[in-house]
Amino acid sequence: MEKYQFTQQDMEKLARETAGYAGRLGHAPTAFVQTFGCQMNARDSEKLRGILQEAGFAEGADETADAVVINTCTVRENANERLYGHLGHLNSMKREHPEKLIVLCGCMMQEPDEVERIRRKYAFVDVVFGTHNLYRFPELLARRLSGEKHVFEVWDAPQEMVEELPKKREVPYKSGVNISFGCDNFCTYCIVPYVRGRERSRRPEDILEEVRRLAADGVLEIMLLGQNVNSYGKGLAEPVSFAQLLEQVCAVPGIERVRFMTSHPKDLSDELIAVMAHEPKVCRHLHLPMQSGSTRILKAMNRRYTKEGYLALAQKIRAAIPDIHLTTDIIVGFPGETEEDFEETLDVVRRVRFDSAFTFIYSPRTGTPAASMPDRVPPETVKDRFARLLDLVQTIGSEESLRELGQTLPALVEGPDEARPGRVTGRLGNNVMVHFDGGPDLTGRIVNVKLEERRGFYYLGTMVP
Ligand code: SAH
Ligand code: SF4
Ligand code: F3S
Repeated sequence: MEKYQFTQQDMEKLARETAGYAGRLGHAPTAFVQTFGCQMNARDSEKLRGILQEAGFAEGADETADAVVINTCTVRENANERLYGHLGHLNSMKREHPEKLIVLCGCMMQEPDEVERIRRKYAFVDVVFGTHNLYRFPELLARRLSGEKHVFEVWDAPQEMVEELPKKREVPYKSGVNISFGCDNFCTYCIVPYVRGRERSRRPEDILEEVRRLAADGVLEIMLLGQNVNSYGKGLAEPVSFAQLLEQVCAVPGIERVRFMTSHPKDLSDELIAVMAHEPKVCRHLHLPMQSGSTRILKAMNRRYTKEGYLALAQKIRAAIPDIHLTTDIIVGFPGETEEDFEETLDVVRRVRFDSAFTFIYSPRTGTPAASMPDRVPPETVKDRFARLLDLVQTIGSEESLRELGQTLPALVEGPDEARPGRVTGRLGNNVMVHFDGGPDLTGRIVNVKLEERRGFYYLGTMVP
C-alpha cells in the first residue's frame, strides 16, 4: 500500500460504515473490482481496490463478493453490451443476497444516456460515479452504506487533480503511472475525449515522486500512461517534453524497465527516438497506432498524418533502434472505406511488418463526428476485410515477433507457467513472452534467458547466469 494524503475524513467515515456493514452481514465484507477498459482504467481500479482495502474490505475472488465494482469502458459498443449482460446476472445474485452492493464507475458512466438507462431499468445498482470524481468514491460508498438508496454522482468535467489515493497494485513488481489524463485529439471515431475530458499533464515532480516511492516498494518496471504520452507537458508552468520526462524516470534508482502507452504518431519527436535509442532501460517496444493506411481515411479520422508520414516514421524508428518491436491498432470499416483504402492498410502492414496488431471493427459512438458520416461499410464487407487483415497481421507477426531466436535476453518473471508445473513465464523488454524451467520464487525477478525455440507467438528458453 502506498501512502497518501487525501480526504482522510471521508476514508474514516467509510471505514466506520464498512464496520457497520460487516455487522449486518455477520462477516468481514469482500469486494471485487472488475476492469473492462484500457491500462488507464486498470490503474484506476488499483485506486478503487486501495480505497476498499483501506476501508476494511477483503479482496473477493469473483462476482460472488459482497461488493462488486465494475470499472466500465465505452470505447466500442461491445464494451457496453458486455456491461448490460453482466448486470442481468448481478441482479439475480442480488435477489439472493439483498445486502450485495453494486457499484458502477468509469468511462461509460460519463455518458448521460447510459446513466439514465441504468437509473430507469437497473434500479438495483447502488452507486454510480464517473472518471472525473473517482476520488469521491469513499464518500459516495459511505453514503450508500449509511442508508441512502441510490448514490449517483457524475461530473461533466474534471475539477482538481487528486492523485494521492491509496492504491493496491495487481502485482508487486510492476506498475502503471499516470502522466496525463484526457485527450485533445478528437479523432472523429473516438469517444475518449468526451468521457475523459481535456488533456491535463501531471507535474513532473509528482510523477517522479510516485516513481521513487514505487521503486522503494520493490517495483522494477514502470508503464507511463496517457492517451497520448507524446504530447505530455503542454500547459505545465515549466514545460517538459515527454522525452525529458522519460529520461528522468529512467534515472530513478531501482527502476530497471520503462514502457509507455500510447504514442500518437503525429507527436512522436526525434528527441524521443534519440532517448529510446540511448537509454537501455526503455523497453524495445513501441505501440504506434496507425488506425488506417489510407491517407484519405486518415484525414476523415482527423489523425493528422498521411500514409507516407506513418511509413517514414516507422522507418526512422527502426533505423535508430534496430531491435525495436512495433505494434499497432487498426480500425476496419470506418465510414467511406473503399476496397482501395483497405488495400492501403494492408500495404502498410506488409511494409512495416508489425510484431503484432490489435484489429478493431469500427463501432459508431454517439456524439462523435464519424457516427453521422455517410457511406457506412456493409457488415459482410467489414467481416471479410477484418478476416483478411487478421490473417495478414498474424502471418507477419508469427514470422517477425520471434526474430531474437538464439539470443540471451533479460526477462521479468511474471509467475509460474499455468500450463506446466516447474516452469515460469517471463516477459522480454520487447513484450514477447518466454517460458523456461524455474520455481515460483523467481516471480518478480529479472533473469537472463537464452531463447532456444519458437512456439507460435512465444519462446521456450533456458535461464542462464
Ligand atoms: N489513445 C490511444 C487509444 C485509445 S482507444 C491512441 O490514440 O492510440 C484504443 C484503440 O481503440 C484505438 O487506437 C482505436 O484503434 C480503437 N478505437 C477507438 N475508437 C474506436 C471505435 N469507435 N471503433 C473501433 N475502434 C475504436
Ligand atoms: Fe481517441 Fe484519438 Fe485521443 Fe486516442 S488520440 S484517445 S484514438 S481521440
Ligand atoms: Fe475504454 Fe475509457 Fe480506456 S473508454 S479504452 S476505459 S479511456
